[in-house]
Amino acid sequence: MAIWAIIPAAGIGSRMQSGVPKQYLQINNQTVLAHALTRLSAVAEVECVVVALHPRDSHWATLALQEGPRLTTCAGGDDRCRSVLNALAALQTRAQQDDWVLVHDAVRPCVTTGDICRLLGEVAEHPVGGLLAVPVSSTLKKAGADGNICATVDRTDLWQASTPQVFRYGLLRKTLTDAIAAGVLVTDEASALELAGFAPRLVRGRADNIKITFPEDLPLASLILQAQARE
Ligand code: C5P
Repeated sequence: MAIWAIIPAAGIGSRMQSGVPKQYLQINNQTVLAHALTRLSAVAEVECVVVALHPRDSHWATLALQEGPRLTTCAGGDDRCRSVLNALAALQTRAQQDDWVLVHDAVRPCVTTGDICRLLGEVAEHPVGGLLAVPVSSTLKKAGADGNICATVDRTDLWQASTPQVFRYGLLRKTLTDAIAAGVLVTDEASALELAGFAPRLVRGRADNIKITFPEDLPLASLILQAQARE
């Protein structure tokens, strides 16, 4: 079974308060997207990485990456799930139904190749697939409309989903298509599988696989990458 990879990178990053989409901001002399791509591409078993880009993307070309059989792009959609679906469609002449597809956010530059390989190893015999995730460590509060706490949520058994998430090509494409047709714009792949009644595997990942969302995440990611380089 072949392994394919998809990076949805078509977002505009409105929460970042930056003119440049967050996947193109620089950390340690490289864009966030280039860091993520380097780490996925380091997994030798990955046949090809498809990067979904905003239709009016003007930054990808500046990365001067060599596109070819192991790296290609497609147009993203209006939502993350539609970008992933477009990338799956771009693979349709190459991927088999039972092949694995790794989906990794462009804005998670600190994922380690070790974690990606562990994820692939742990789902190898799983009927559905799974995702990297981290058990929730903080106490969780639910806010009321007035901004005051209305409940404390029991964190036992709660996990924070991250990426990569890995599923079979055919099942992922069908469940994402069905979710969108039902009007549910899922924010990760596991949600599409869950909607269809499947139970993906939670694989404990490193807590430093942070998602760049707010301006303060950038210096944090920079320190994480430096620390990882010393490991
Ligand atoms: O917006 P959010 O932080 O959830 O985005 C997660 C990932 O999905 C990012 O890598 C972003 O570029 C991507 N995305 C996309 N197409 C969209 C919206 C987001 O590929 N329409």
